[in-house]
Amino acid sequence: MRADMERGRDATLRPTVIRAAVLGAIASIIGVVLGLLINWFPAQGSTQADKIDTFWDVLIICSVPIFVLVATVVVVSVIKFRMRPGEEDLDGPPIHGNTRLEVMWTSLPATLLIALCAYAYIVLHDIEKAPAKGNELHVKVIGQQFTWQFEYTGAGGKKFTTTQLYVPEGRSVKFDVTSKDVLHDFWVPAWRMKIDAVPGITTHYRITPKKTGHKVAYPVVCAELCGLGHAFMRQTAHILPEQEFNDWLAKQGQAGGGAAGGGGAAGGGGTSPDTAAGKQVFASNGCASCHTLSDAGASGNVGPDLDKALATRDDAFIKQSIVDPGAFVEKGFQNGIMPATYGKDIKPADIDALVKYLSSVTHK
Ligand code: CUA
Repeated sequence: MRADMERGRDATLRPTVIRAAVLGAIASIIGVVLGLLINWFPAQGSTQADKIDTFWDVLIICSVPIFVLVATVVVVSVIKFRMRPGEEDLDGPPIHGNTRLEVMWTSLPATLLIALCAYAYIVLHDIEKAPAKGNELHVKVIGQQFTWQFEYTGAGGKKFTTTQLYVPEGRSVKFDVTSKDVLHDFWVPAWRMKIDAVPGITTHYRITPKKTGHKVAYPVVCAELCGLGHAFMRQTAHILPEQEFNDWLAKQGQAGGGAAGGGGAAGGGGTSPDTAAGKQVFASNGCASCHTLSDAGASGNVGPDLDKALATRDDAFIKQSIVDPGAFVEKGFQNGIMPATYGKDIKPADIDALVKYLSSVTHK
């Protein structure tokens, strides 16, 4: 008697299940096609990006049908088995497990997850692999509130730092990432790779830059909330053809670690040897990423425009603004964005050189 009832219910359910399956299949196809057509990410600026984006596509193909299946079962159940007036006190039929169903809903997801984990591991292993021929460029990345600095080893082993990142097309680049103060996160979305910059330790990742069309400059951003200026901690990564990169590197090395970076406006017409040291301090502490200073080719607008703000200020004021930036805050700017740590991070002699330089180039 009961078995007959159940068979009867199964029969009335069958059209609903078939309809739901057909609708679900159509929804899955539309979902997968849309998921693959949507441009989720910026241009692929590294060979790693190809592999990561392919992995993303596979995840879309696997997860959309599962989402549709779950949503369909929920919607059908709510419509088909909802409580109707007069059924408030009724219990559902007593069900005691369904071994076949339970085995299926355990083993299928488990198999899928293990397969995806294995694939993810293969992709990760592949994108982190060191190049066979040890022709790898090393760039040290230093995060600091609120700028990135990039340290290269130029010709003759001479080290120099820049505030713009330059990398050669098609050659593996390994980044050694660290921080001078708090947690930051070194991220170039076009490369798809990111890693925390942690004070006291060095983290790493490598990419092989790839040019996409004529667009060869990508944003470098900080992906870890690190203070008031976090959103401004943005710079630029340039991908150069290998020969052009080598020329650039050789030139920077020759300059004896001179005022590199600052938007490529190194060289500084008319800076006397007297102020050259200060100009270098300006460049190597990332001042250019926040301030405008025409002599240094800096056009930052996070902090005051130094050409204007310092025009009528004396050396004592300039020095105070560097070591104790909260003492006087220029109108229209917020206290606390400029780090208060330069007084202890920059050597006294370098601070004096910086003050001298700033004073000489802003007092016309
Ligand atoms: Cu550095 Cu956010």
